Amino acid sequence: MLRWDVGVYDQHVLPRLIHLAMKMKRLEPYRAEIAGSAEGRVLEIGMGSGLNLPFYSNRAKEILGLEPHATLRKLAGHSDVTLLAASAEQIPLDAASVDSIVTTWTLCSIPDVATALSEMRRVLRPDGRLLFVEHGLAPELEVQRTQQKWTPLWGRFTGGCHLDRKIDALIGDAGFEIEGLRTGYIEGPRAMTFTYSGSAKSR
Ligand SMILES: C[S@@+](CC[C@H](N)C(=O)[O-])C[C@H]1O[C@@H](n2cnc3c(N)ncnc32)[C@H](O)[C@@H]1O
Repeated sequence: MLRWDVGVYDQHVLPRLIHLAMKMKRLEPYRAEIAGSAEGRVLEIGMGSGLNLPFYSNRAKEILGLEPHATLRKLAGHSDVTLLAASAEQIPLDAASVDSIVTTWTLCSIPDVATALSEMRRVLRPDGRLLFVEHGLAPELEVQRTQQKWTPLWGRFTGGCHLDRKIDALIGDAGFEIEGLRTGYIEGPRAMTFTYSGSAKSR
């Protein structure tokens, strides 16, 4: 694509495609479980178009939605959320200032995911929870090969999404201890649907 086309696609087309793709009904049980477990002061990383907002319970007392993409922030605009125009690699919050962090299908797209996870650990209270549902590296070698082969091209059209990140290892390497982890395929092409969900706390 020409440079102009890339700009228009990334600014205007991609956010709407993300919204449509992420609105799928089959993702809602995961949203209900992960966002529904958040408590206290909640930071959602990569809030996108705000699709988790209906799933927060009244135990979530304050919701901060970090989202670097201006068009997605506009789509997410809602009276119940404070939007932060920032990237997860540099979270504009004090250390130990949030009770829960929610990340849903976002760790795949953050360019420097190790730095982002260490920022999440910094801003999370010591007894707080990182709640996640993410797609990533599948266990079967033949699926992994497809994921590795397609990630460079796939990423160009999806805002930098990686198909082949090993989510549990990334979370563990950032100094979190995973307390509950469920993995498995959801409906759809296997390269895109191997899912990791659960919670973690600081070690
Ligand atoms: C596939 S979308 C998921 C959106 C949303 N979490 C959901 O569940 O519908 C990936 C999201 O990651 C966000 N993202 C990409 N790079 C990021 C970064 N460096 N920091 C925070 N969010 C980022 C994108 O802007 C987008 O909102």
